[in-house]
Amino acid sequence: MRPVILDVDPGVDDALAILMALHSPELEVLGLTTVCGNVPLEQTTENALKVLELAGRTDVPVCMGAARPLAREPVHAYEVHGPKGLGEAQLPEPEAVPAGDAVDFLIEGIEARIGEVIVVATGPLTNLALAEARSPGILSQSRRLVIMGGVLHEPGNISPQTEFNFHADPHAARQVVNSGANIALVPLEAARQLWLEQDLLRWHLAGREDPIARFCAASTQTVMAFETQLYGRRGMHLHDPLAVGLSIFPQLCEIQPLWIDVEPEGELTSGQLVVDRRPFVRDDHLVGNQVKCALKINVPGFLEVFLDRLLQ
Ligand code: RIB
Ligand code: CA
Repeated sequence: MRPVILDVDPGVDDALAILMALHSPELEVLGLTTVCGNVPLEQTTENALKVLELAGRTDVPVCMGAARPLAREPVHAYEVHGPKGLGEAQLPEPEAVPAGDAVDFLIEGIEARIGEVIVVATGPLTNLALAEARSPGILSQSRRLVIMGGVLHEPGNISPQTEFNFHADPHAARQVVNSGANIALVPLEAARQLWLEQDLLRWHLAGREDPIARFCAASTQTVMAFETQLYGRRGMHLHDPLAVGLSIFPQLCEIQPLWIDVEPEGELTSGQLVVDRRPFVRDDHLVGNQVKCALKINVPGFLEVFLDRLLQ
């Protein structure tokens, strides 16, 4: 089993990713660290606790992280995830409480198993940047970071040129990208290949009245309504489950090494990925850091694994 820490901002797709990870025998979920993102920190933390109780996994600790980005004002995505961040789902108030500080948990978790821990980051990267600042080199002592974030050349989803997680905390994204850690990046170009048709989900949920099936039906309604309005098709993209899937089945994605950096400033560009593809420049002169970028996804293969694990 691979030890993983999920750094999350639930968020509907984060919640689906958490359930997928918990239902995957290949992963040992050491804990969840929560961050301000889709909704404020208090809410992402409450949602993480609720999802763990839904899954019967209150043995997994939730540690609270950053209540705001390193420098920018918080931005949220209520229009996508709903006012409470889990769409139309109504889960009971959690009995468990947060177990501690996210940055401490990340540092101690990685230090306890040098070279073994995979950190799957599906929200703004504030917690990871704070961990690196507090313990320089700690991110490079993880096995790897699997990061959902950034957009290479397609239109952004929060501004013309930026993706939400990198836009929300561009300074953190830049610090993590340049930390020297082993990074697998899941940009919007990859996530947008992974479309879950509403009819397919409904087919898998048909006849099921269990709490997880009811949660999947209710939580995805808001996101699907939002994306249907955008794309004219009833369904949703599976950004964060793809990051979890990549940590289990890297063979489901074709990977390309890219040299990237993140623009932290600019009214229109803050959070933009900068990809250095100059063929005539030596690697050590390229900007930023080399990451393994997921480009082409085996969509049917991933959907099969996702639905099997989510709804086992
Ligand atoms: O841009 C999509 C990403 O931003 C996803 O992780 C979603 O949950 C939001 O955090
Ligand atoms: Ca997320």
